[in-house]
Amino acid sequence: IPSVEHIKEEELKDKVVIVIDVLRATSVIVTALANGAKEVIPVLEIEDALELKSDMELLGGERKGLKIDGFDLSNSPLEYTREMVEGRSIIMTTTNGTRALHKAKEGDKIYIGAVINGVSAAKKASDEKKDMAIICAGTYGKFSLDDFLCAGKIIYEVLKRGEYELDDFAAAAYMAYRDNKHDLISYVKMAKHCKYLISIGLEEDIKYCFTEDIADVVPEYRDGVIKL
Ligand code: MLT
Repeated sequence: IPSVEHIKEEELKDKVVIVIDVLRATSVIVTALANGAKEVIPVLEIEDALELKSDMELLGGERKGLKIDGFDLSNSPLEYTREMVEGRSIIMTTTNGTRALHKAKEGDKIYIGAVINGVSAAKKASDEKKDMAIICAGTYGKFSLDDFLCAGKIIYEVLKRGEYELDDFAAAAYMAYRDNKHDLISYVKMAKHCKYLISIGLEEDIKYCFTEDIADVVPEYRDGVIKL
């Protein structure tokens, strides 16, 4: 029976990995690609992004949740409209999300998961019929409730598609989602990062990021680039 686990980086080999930073990096990536962006290139530092930029690309991301000086887009998924991103490459740097992606690089397949594409991500990953690992970006290296809840949703959907052995972390995430799926927003409002985003006026982003299954794309991260 394949397993769904929360494990260390060096144990990712041969596993299907789903990376989650639901508030907001992976919600942004899913939105951008669903709206026709050509690719998203995640980089760790602002300087890396500025160096890579040519006329063809858009720069997106955040520091402290806000748009970076000289960038075209912030880290609000609502800015990544079809009009803005169709056919464009987007170079992206965020505080936690792009770091989580770099951590995932040992995985056999690396998919981008969010609440907005949860069912599709679960389907794509379980079609591989392999052990699965979910990387939650967290916030500044700490556990975060928002990613945990999103992981729970994906696990909930994965279990509908087959038998998996869950470790206790995965089981706890599953139960968090199962017991709160009628009102994800109330649950997520307990998360520190969620409170912070609301304090800087970004409540609409929270609502969007926790709207279930409005996107049916599952971006894949491979060789430093995220594409469909
Ligand atoms: C991150 O990558 O740290 C987050 O996406 C932060 C944010 O909400 O903008």
